[in-house]
Amino acid sequence: MTRKILVLPGDGIGPEIVAEAVKVLEKLVAEGVELELEFGLIGGAAYDAEGHPLPPGTLASARAADAVLLGAVGGPRYEQLDRALRPEQGLLGLRAELELFANLRPAILYPQLADASTLKPGVVAGLDIMIVRELTGGIYFGQPRGIRVLENGEKEGFNTLVYRESEIERIGRSAFEIARKRGKKLCSVDKANVLEVTELWRQVMTRLARDYPDVELSHMYVDNAAMQLVRAPKQFDVIVTTNMFGDILSDAAAMLTGSIGMLPSASLDANAKGMYEPIHGSAPDIAGRGVANPLATILSVAMMLRYTLGLPDQARRIETAVGTVLDRGLRTADIAAAGESAVGTSEMGDAVIAAL
Ligand code: IPM
Ligand code: MG
Repeated sequence: MTRKILVLPGDGIGPEIVAEAVKVLEKLVAEGVELELEFGLIGGAAYDAEGHPLPPGTLASARAADAVLLGAVGGPRYEQLDRALRPEQGLLGLRAELELFANLRPAILYPQLADASTLKPGVVAGLDIMIVRELTGGIYFGQPRGIRVLENGEKEGFNTLVYRESEIERIGRSAFEIARKRGKKLCSVDKANVLEVTELWRQVMTRLARDYPDVELSHMYVDNAAMQLVRAPKQFDVIVTTNMFGDILSDAAAMLTGSIGMLPSASLDANAKGMYEPIHGSAPDIAGRGVANPLATILSVAMMLRYTLGLPDQARRIETAVGTVLDRGLRTADIAAAGESAVGTSEMGDAVIAAL
């Protein structure tokens, strides 16, 4: 059965890094893996071509696809647009429309890159955390929202942080299942001392724990979690948290590894259909120069093979190939140590293909 993959390069460095990941997919196809690639527009690129960051054709193709591979969206050119037309809305719209509620963000320290972290090697050596972020609810999508003018003429901005039990339960189950396949430790991060909605979050997680007796559940307030992440990150195995807390903590966790350019992510629906993208953004400052690191996008293909396409051996093969090129000393500028020479985007991609 041929599986369909929608490729959305997006903005900034998106097209460059996605091109390398596509080489990997094409190599698998050449070897007999039955995949069909389709290309589409999202973000600023879609706005430029069709006047909207998530054109109907892109959404229809995404619905029809088994998985989506996305580069990055956004750029300074689009910051003045109406909110509804900004590139980020393409991404948020896809997450919402496809109900990709479970966002998996691994933070792994590659031993070859231990020096890239700003933290002491002893603090981060061997780091392997999985952040499970709720992605289609919470304050990102809660209504009402807006900026209104009060009677005295002053403006007031407002957003709503809201979670239903069912939303908490489904992300909770995803996280417990993932913890079960890893170190069997799950830390639920909330602000239950202040926010009722996360008091409910904590209650639901506690209730779910009965169904997963093999997983050790703990709870942590988000401010403490931020501190613990930089103080002693190796205490964590899997973290589950709300949309906005997950947005923030996953950036911090990524930087523990010193190389946000290395980290992939998966956003899954209830049937493990998914969108796969690097954690980093569109990096407009280096776009078009062929110096961006394609490894996070290539590793996103590995996550796609594992979580949506059911090909864990192929996933491991890609991860091993990435390890091999790092062993050989290949570094893009973002992960090169001071004074070390760096290779370009396509050179790195070609090296991964060769290692495969
Ligand atoms: C992320 C990004 C997005 C988010 C932006 C681009 C809308 O920061 O994927 O973490 O806030 O979710
Ligand atoms: Mg973010």
